[in-house]
Amino acid sequence: MTRFSCEERTTGGIPFLLDERAHRMGMETWLSIEYDKSPHVLWSGRTGSGKTVAAKLLLARSILLAPPELQPVELTVIDPKSDTDFDYLDGLTRFYRGDEAPQGFNNFFDAFIRRRDKQDLSANLKICYADEFASLINLIDDKKEKEAAQRKLALLLMLSRSRRFSVQLATQQPSAKLFGESGSASREQFGAVCLLGESGAETQAMLFDGDSRERIKAFGVIGGRGVGWLSVNGGIAQPVRVPMVGAMEKLNRVIYDNLAR
Ligand SMILES: Nc1ncnc2c1ncn2[C@@H]1O[C@H](COP(=O)(O)OP(=O)(O)OP(=O)(O)O)[C@@H](O)[C@H]1O
Ligand SMILES: [Mg+2]
Repeated sequence: MTRFSCEERTTGGIPFLLDERAHRMGMETWLSIEYDKSPHVLWSGRTGSGKTVAAKLLLARSILLAPPELQPVELTVIDPKSDTDFDYLDGLTRFYRGDEAPQGFNNFFDAFIRRRDKQDLSANLKICYADEFASLINLIDDKKEKEAAQRKLALLLMLSRSRRFSVQLATQQPSAKLFGESGSASREQFGAVCLLGESGAETQAMLFDGDSRERIKAFGVIGGRGVGWLSVNGGIAQPVRVPMVGAMEKLNRVIYDNLAR
């Protein structure tokens, strides 16, 4: 059961996943994300593998547990597929669904440019979560505009670390095509790459290096929803487990309150 207490605040890191090997030995060991070092997160896995819940959990934990220098955390949620997962955010300012998705992404990018150009002197953490970025790209008809969106993503991934901008994407298909011309170079900018559920060799090859794939193969069946593999900063993948969310409405409330602020 996941908790939202502040006692878990650590030295800059946000604990977000459980070490699956420790879990199998009856221990609870948290793995953390460090926003100042590697702020970008890529969630992948087949439908129903638990990407959206895992992503929402990290978002809520970041909002609640980020250290004072990153506060107030400002979240933007983009849902190009108009999934029912996000119905409860309808009407909130930094929530963009369906056709509004490209505009939401542009707004986030513009905020990054303002901070880069010192028009915005704040230093808080701004996170953009896009549930299925591929759908956002597909919503744009114009080829040039499509490429522009992919270029903006590439720039955000490459340049925004020191500005405390975080891009978090969930996708069923993490192919290089998603990122346009910058392809795998963009994919490599994700400090945390997590593949949930059972997955095919092709998807594993898109996300992890040879050593990681050997390890995944040797480990055998990982289990179903909410269990998978995490690589941090290109390091060897390790088995992880998404904490069970007992009270989804509490989790949703944290995200709602952030967007409503
Ligand atoms: N950590 C969790 N705790 C509790 N329930 C979970 C958890 N992960 C997944 N679930 C349950 O499984 C369902 C499917 O998970 P989720 O929506 O996150 O999958 P997904 O990978 O985002 O799928 P899709 O690609 O279709 O969007 C959730 O609606 C929820 O009911
Ligand atoms: Mg989902």
